[in-house]
Amino acid sequence: MTQQTDIKILGIESSCDETAASIVTGKREILSNIVSSQIKDHERFGGVVPEIAARAHMEQIELIVDMALKDADMALDDIDGVAATCGPGLIGGVIVGMMAGKTIASMKNKPFIGVNHLEGHVLSPRLSDGMAFPYLVLLVSGAHTQILIAHDLGDYELLGTTLDDAVGECFDKVGRMLGLPFPGGKYVAELAAQCNDRKAAAQKFQLPRPLKGRKGCDFSFSGLKTAVLRHITDDMDKNDKIMLAAAMEDAVADVMVDRVKKAIEIFKDRYPDKNKSHIVSGGGVAANITIKKRLTDLTDTYNMIFTAPPAHLCTDNGAMIAWAGVERFKRGLIDDMSAKARPRWPLQELQKEAK
Ligand code: KG4
Ligand code: ZN
Repeated sequence: MTQQTDIKILGIESSCDETAASIVTGKREILSNIVSSQIKDHERFGGVVPEIAARAHMEQIELIVDMALKDADMALDDIDGVAATCGPGLIGGVIVGMMAGKTIASMKNKPFIGVNHLEGHVLSPRLSDGMAFPYLVLLVSGAHTQILIAHDLGDYELLGTTLDDAVGECFDKVGRMLGLPFPGGKYVAELAAQCNDRKAAAQKFQLPRPLKGRKGCDFSFSGLKTAVLRHITDDMDKNDKIMLAAAMEDAVADVMVDRVKKAIEIFKDRYPDKNKSHIVSGGGVAANITIKKRLTDLTDTYNMIFTAPPAHLCTDNGAMIAWAGVERFKRGLIDDMSAKARPRWPLQELQKEAK
């Protein structure tokens, strides 16, 4: 019988605009990690188009799985189980990846593990750094904005989420208003970095800090986006755009700091004896240097450590799904062919489902 540390799990991810497959072992080794991005297909629409995404996943999935096996120098017979994202996400894409996973599992008589995509993000620091439970997680991407405590495998406490747009979505919409390519977050950040007087920028372009100072850890970004839109004029020059980008980035950073501060206080309350605790961030927005710097300063004052897995494990990928599969396999949390594809699947439901 295979030792639990020797297991090799194939992970498949297709919930948004990345078709990805990876093979990960029980010893935290990533034997392969193939990610095919569809950004080019969606760019001209300024956002991810679900029908185009589903079709592209369908065209890519077999090839991507084959490449993951080839890169790991393995055949399907060598794997011990198949994990695939079953949600949350764009349902057409989720179905494509899940069905590919189930087909391989049933064809080769291997266990199938249906993975919650958010759990993949939450567990990735355990793959990259062997992080021990409990820890705080800040998940900030084009699709998610959540703060939660990972108490244990499948035991996640949601402290806050967005009431409207995701933070990455807000960056992307502002990017679009400023005439930048999609997805705009990176380009807004590049513009903001050219600003040499952030105070003047904040004064010239006054923007709200939604929910700052309020109870709890929730976020809201649609008001900020609308406020940015009100400042957009036809005669804006490059310097105006730089200043507006900087003012917007600072507004987001202020909100992040305020909400994360509240989350740290809740975490410290739950675990008063834990000395050096970690807060880990994932998702594309975690790459933002201004936000990272502000959050690092904040966590320092609380004697916490702010870390992020390497960028290729922060953005959507198959390795995080394979790893969630490894963790679940080790605990005997195996699914069967009745696992459903779900567009919505809050993390808190995992604990109920395990009972
Ligand atoms: O995790 P991710 O790659 O994928 C999905 O959400 O699917 O996150 C992408 C998001 C986009 O909204 C993108 O604009 C944003 O992350 N992003 C950034 C930066 N780099 C990527 N936002 C702000 N600053 C950045 N440097
Ligand atoms: Zn994601």
